[in-house]
This record gives sequence, C-alpha cells and structure tokens, in this order.
Amino acid sequence: MFVRYVSVKALKEGMILAQSVHGSNGDLLVRNGVAMSPFLIKKLQNMGYSGLYIQDEFSDGIQITDVISDEIRNSSMKAARSIMLNAVSGEKGLIRNDLKELMNQLKKIIDSVLSSEQSVMNVMNIKSFDLYTYQHSVNVCVLSTIIGISYGLSYEQLQNLAITSILHDMGKSFIDKNILNKVEPLTEDESNTIKKHSTLGYIFIRDKCTFTSSVCIGTLMHHERYDGSGYPYGRKGNDIPLFAQIIAVADVYDAMISERPYRPPISPHEAYEYVIGNSGKHFNPKIVEIFSKRITPFPEGFNVLLSNGVEGIVYKNHEDLLTRPIIKIDAAQDKEAYFIDLKNDPRALEITIKKIIV
Ligand SMILES: [Fe+2]
Repeated sequence: MFVRYVSVKALKEGMILAQSVHGSNGDLLVRNGVAMSPFLIKKLQNMGYSGLYIQDEFSDGIQITDVISDEIRNSSMKAARSIMLNAVSGEKGLIRNDLKELMNQLKKIIDSVLSSEQSVMNVMNIKSFDLYTYQHSVNVCVLSTIIGISYGLSYEQLQNLAITSILHDMGKSFIDKNILNKVEPLTEDESNTIKKHSTLGYIFIRDKCTFTSSVCIGTLMHHERYDGSGYPYGRKGNDIPLFAQIIAVADVYDAMISERPYRPPISPHEAYEYVIGNSGKHFNPKIVEIFSKRITPFPEGFNVLLSNGVEGIVYKNHEDLLTRPIIKIDAAQDKEAYFIDLKNDPRALEITIKKIIV
C-alpha cells in the first residue's frame, strides 16, 4: 500500500481511501480503494475519525504494513466488544463463548507479531472516536504483545499477557458512560468512580473466567506506577506485576494518540517523548527501552515540518535512529520531488523534525 495519513479535515474529493473502515459491530462500511465524495467525507467526519490513510501521487513509494491484518483487527475488536457488553448481564454461557472466540483471535495477533519481519512496528491504525473503547483494547493488546516478545516471554506467557491487555479496561463496562465520556473536568467523586474500573475488571475476571492469577492481578494493577504514584495500592517498582507494567506503557501511549471527548489526539512523537520522559518515574526503564526501539515517533506516511521551514512526509524510518528518518519533499513549482535523509545526508545534519502536522 502506498499511502499517507491525513486529518479528516484535510480530506478532499477524489482522494483514494487506503484502509477499509468498519462499524462498531465489525461490519465493513467503506472499502479501501474507494474515492472520496463529499457525502463520504461528511460520513467519516461524523463517525469521529480524526485521520485516515489515503493514496495519492505524493505518497507514491510509501509502504505501510499494519502489524496485524484488517481482518484480525476487526474480529478481535468484535470479540472484545461482545465480552464487554455481555459482562454486564453476567450470563456465564455467553461469556464462555466470547472468551473462546477472543482466545482464537489473540493467537492470531501473537502469531502475526511473531512472524512480522519488521522490527519497528506501525501501530498508527485509524481511530474513531465512537469505537474508542474497543479499538483501544486491541491496540493495547498489540503493543503489549510487541513489548512482551522483545522482553523474551514464552508463548504461554504471551497468551496470558494478550488476554490481560485486551481485557485491561473491561471494568469500565460497569461504570456510567456519562462519566466516562464527560467533556467537562471530572469532580473528585467522578474521578474516584472511574478509578474503580481496575478493581471491577479484576473481580469480573476472577469470578467469571478461569485464567491464571497473573491475568487477574495484571488487570487489577495496570494503573500502578513504577514510582508508587499509581492506584489502587500505590505499589512501587517490581512489586508491580510484569504484565501490569507492560500494559501501563501500552495503555498510556495509545490513549495519548487517540482522540478523547475532552481533548484532540496528541502527536505520536509527543506521546513517544512522554513515555521516554517517564522512564524510571511512571514506567519501568527496561520496558521503556524496548518500547523506544520498536515503536517509532515518526510513523511513515505522516506529514512533518522540518526546522528549516520545509514540509515533507516521513518516507522511511531508520531502525537504528528512529528520530531521523528519510523525508520526501513534494515537487514545488520549478523543482521535482526530492528526499532528505536526516541520518545519512551530511547536508541535513542541522535539520531536525519540529513537529508532525495533521
Ligand atoms: Fe484503565
């Protein structure tokens, strides 16, 4: 796929959609390859997408491969959604079927990441405001699996990490949606209500599922922080179970780059810097180190502004220097499109990426 990422506000008639769009029940709504029409642009904006991958001449040569296929992503999202909805009724038969389906999908996620030849992963999948809870669950699962593999976990441990991470926020099923989606600042009471989700998720998994204690405890402690500033217990360092420490990094990063009712999405490079800046504070340094090597601050296909005032598109990352990728600069009136290799081009030594433009 030769693509670039554009904000929904920048979508124009005739642009070709490079990634299929699905509804909350997993059904296909718009297939990739479809040309944008005013009606479609409006529809995508109303569905709460902040940006989408499109193909055009400028993006020629930019190849993006999602770490898991569209099909696995949507089936996993569907399975996660089903269990979160059925959790409230507490119907054991339904939950048992949901978990069976979920475990099938998780094996596919683990196998996809294990067989991927990319060492730096593209996790900037498209996100819709409406589907946040389920997309976030799958994203945290994929990110946690990437980290877990580099950490050296066994296949069985990866399966337990995957189920913990995809269910990490399932306690939110039991919390009032009006509080979860509130736009105005939360009162202290409301904030305390939301904080109960990790304990509620733990109780559900302990009582209704048959997973090992590492899954239950991982869910319970995914908001604990390395320096003891988290909840519910304020545990520190390696007193926090490993799964919870991995999920903490994946959860914070994906939440930051997603649009929320109370704020727009934060750029991937700012979220990346936030995670690195909290190494040894909120997060375990070993996990942050793995994260920093496997997730890129400047995903390919994103528009960037360089320190010399020129705008371009991230063309290719260098795996050993993720902050200085190759940038493609579009053709101007009298010039053809050209490339700046921020790592290898001696003339580019003083140029830095100022920001991602979406
Ligand atoms: Fe959470």
